[in-house]
Amino acid sequence: MADRGEHTDRTPIPGEPWPWDERFRDMPWPKDPDPLLVEYCSDLPKGKAVDLGAGTGRNSIFLAGLGYEVMAVDASQVGLDITASRAKSENLAIKTVLANLDDFKLEADTYDLVVIANIHMLPPDSKKLFKMAVEGLRRGGHLFVVGHDRSNLGVHGPPLPELLYSVDDMKDLFPSDLDIKVLKNQERPVGDSPHGVPDMAVVVLGEKK
Ligand SMILES: C[S@@+](CC[C@H](N)C(=O)[O-])C[C@H]1O[C@@H](n2cnc3c(N)ncnc32)[C@H](O)[C@@H]1O
Repeated sequence: MADRGEHTDRTPIPGEPWPWDERFRDMPWPKDPDPLLVEYCSDLPKGKAVDLGAGTGRNSIFLAGLGYEVMAVDASQVGLDITASRAKSENLAIKTVLANLDDFKLEADTYDLVVIANIHMLPPDSKKLFKMAVEGLRRGGHLFVVGHDRSNLGVHGPPLPELLYSVDDMKDLFPSDLDIKVLKNQERPVGDSPHGVPDMAVVVLGEKK
């Protein structure tokens, strides 16, 4: 995924434009799902899924196509409108919810899959987000997280090292009722990146105990 420059993930400020709206209006965003979501989640049991920070919905569309009942949550109305229009044209049902993830709560013990893809917050905020995500999972449900590794600094992802992921940092960010099945670095294809440099990701798959 391309460098997002100033478009870092942070708390939306009421009354101020949300920078991701401008980004999604001005630049086409990839339509294909994250390749690591496809690799790790295609064969999980289907049911209710939520895509937190869904953007323009490429991962929500993929999950709905697999047969999940999907809710896409984001602070970008532009992203959600693109998601809804794509879902309509592909005859898929996706519920879109405009919300700030910092104070969002999922219905407890409800979801079979929670996806957090390419959302880069400071570690305490990520920890809070992961806790909220796991609270929403039913027992046996899965949390899938993917994001740019710190080795991408200056090439892919936000331009601040503290916002990028590392396997070591991630070890401390998940609640104890999540059984971590996968936590590792894995390269993502260059895709449509203008940099022509492979994107090293951190990928996490956990199951709620
Ligand atoms: C890099 S995009 C990732 C979009 C999508 N998950 C994907 O992989 O294509 C980051 C998304 O997170 C959303 N986001 C960031 N911080 C947020 C917050 N505090 N509340 C709600 N959405 C947020 C942005 O609006 C944007 O759509």
